[in-house]
Amino acid sequence: MTTKTAAITAVGGYVPEHVLTNAALEQMVDTNDEWITSRTGIKERRILKPTSLGTSFMAIAAARELVQKKNLDPAAIDLVIVSTATPDMPVSSTAAFVATEIGALNAFAYDLQGACSGFLYGMSAASAHISSGRYQKVLLIGADTMSSIIDYTDRSTCVIFGDGAGAVLFEPNDEDLGLQDEVLRVDGKGREFLKIEAGGSMLPASSDTVAAGKHFLHQEGRPVFKFAVSNMVDAIEQVLDQNNLTKNDIDYVVAHQANKRILDAIAKNLDLDYEQMLVNIERYGNTTAATLPLLLWDYESKLKKNQKLLFTAFGGGFTWGATYLTWAYNT
Ligand code: UT7
Repeated sequence: MTTKTAAITAVGGYVPEHVLTNAALEQMVDTNDEWITSRTGIKERRILKPTSLGTSFMAIAAARELVQKKNLDPAAIDLVIVSTATPDMPVSSTAAFVATEIGALNAFAYDLQGACSGFLYGMSAASAHISSGRYQKVLLIGADTMSSIIDYTDRSTCVIFGDGAGAVLFEPNDEDLGLQDEVLRVDGKGREFLKIEAGGSMLPASSDTVAAGKHFLHQEGRPVFKFAVSNMVDAIEQVLDQNNLTKNDIDYVVAHQANKRILDAIAKNLDLDYEQMLVNIERYGNTTAATLPLLLWDYESKLKKNQKLLFTAFGGGFTWGATYLTWAYNT
């Protein structure tokens, strides 16, 4: 058996209709458009309404768009991975529900929790499944309903996050295009800086934890910012080095959209041209596992066969990494 590379062969996406603008946030917490724009680059984000639709609603919509665009028989899908930090329920696989709803009747499915690096880790898993030779079509979805875990009285988090979902199909490639290499890392000590304290095994949900707001996402922004920049830059430098590439060889950097200033810092540290960075944070905010596929969704028409892409992400855990992938098709 010859090992084949796994390439992305289709992209789909979905963002909810409801737009939460900076002006609307000014009415909810003590903030202003100038602060949000200058400190984060975000102008608006999408919010899933009602929340009870669940993350699967967006994942299914993104997957259905991909299936339709690609004219794909869902029964041919072997595996569905849903990268998410906000599954429909703590127990019961969101991916299983998504697979059944889209008609992937011959697939197995699982959720992957890598926080904001969930999609990047999912690319590794999807690629490895393909390269095993056992699977031909792996659907990878990054989807998060961040509005379901945000405290809309906490100005330090509620201005940043949004909801959305993006999907890609991985298939074996005969021309050696697709995922080439990766540097993926964790630092478990980082969990103190970015977490939901209650609702897990250490601190099960109770009326006390809810009263104390411990079921909401808590982030210490400054240290996370610092770790995010230095670790993503390190991972990118390592993956470039491992592949004898320089920054000039790279067509696009597909980076997690957490803060425009983080993207600026990555570009500055690596001496990249700003045109090399794909950016859409101003419209969606930080959608956690959905940021990378939503960039592909928005910029798909710009991407050309054989172009060299660098993906990078950083998130809770801490989790991070950089992945080098060559694009496999023209739209
Ligand atoms: O995706 C997962 C990984 N996450 C990240 O990568 C996020 C990394 N962190 C960040 O992007 C930034 O740290 C934030 C956007 C979260 C915060 O920006 P910052 O420039 O680090 O602000 P800060 O937390 O240091 O706060 C500066 C000031 C504080 O006021 P004082 O203490 O200087 O008087 C905050 O209270 O800004 C204040 N502030 C706000 N003011 C207006 C915090 N949030 C707001 C707000 N509106 N929404």
